[in-house]
Amino acid sequence: MVIAVSKGRILQEALPLLAIAGIVPHEDPDESRKLILETSDGKTKLVVIRAADVPTFVEYGAADVGIAGKDVLLEYEGDGFYEPLDLKIAACRLVLAGRGQVENDSRRLRVATKYATTTRRYFAQKGVQIEVVKLYGSMELAPLVGLADYIVDLVDTGNTLKANGLVMMEHIADISSRLIVNKASMKIKHNQITDLIGRLAAVTG
Ligand code: ATP
Ligand code: PRP
Repeated sequence: MVIAVSKGRILQEALPLLAIAGIVPHEDPDESRKLILETSDGKTKLVVIRAADVPTFVEYGAADVGIAGKDVLLEYEGDGFYEPLDLKIAACRLVLAGRGQVENDSRRLRVATKYATTTRRYFAQKGVQIEVVKLYGSMELAPLVGLADYIVDLVDTGNTLKANGLVMMEHIADISSRLIVNKASMKIKHNQITDLIGRLAAVTG
């Protein structure tokens, strides 16, 4: 079985859960240059990849199982996997934020975000027309330099918003990391995968 895990914050929080489930990589993923890591559970390998690539690997069956943030799953347009378990790690919120209410009737509001699809869907549900400015990071900068009226971004402590004079305006979604499973793998490797789900469910409560 191959498990794809998002690099960075999610990996750091997922490794202790996987260890309790009996899966410990032979090499430190932060140190190793290897892309496929063997583990203490001889049948399981880890691939550590960019967050946004995890659903793709799982949908196409390149990984049987994945660990990815709900933010990434909301943004992903595809339904080639199951989402059986909330791992309750890397918890934060997806919010609309800005410098305050913008008074503006003359043009569409501009919203800067890495989450273009989720943002369009959110405003479409509210019946509000907006223009999305797609960014890949440092969203908080956009309202400060006149690139956008608002941002849609992740907030945990609120420190980043505060440090940049921004305030949370609307809550869009609660985010945490989820276990996702390729649909065919769920059938073909049913015992191994349900066993993993059971072990992780016991840890996450
Ligand atoms: P990449 O480097 O691939 O672009 P990234 O910079 O988004 O990814 P991280 O910042 O490590 O990578 O975030 C990965 C995931 O961690 C996000 O998809 C989200 O689910 C979660 N996350 C991001 N920021 C926070 C935060 N401040 N608190 C808790 N969880 C977070
Ligand atoms: C995330 C997110 C916010 C920040 C929010 O960025 O994009 O900028 O965390 O967390 P806070 O509310 O606790 O301040 P991250 O730290 O992952 O930086 P990066 O996306 O630029 O790598």
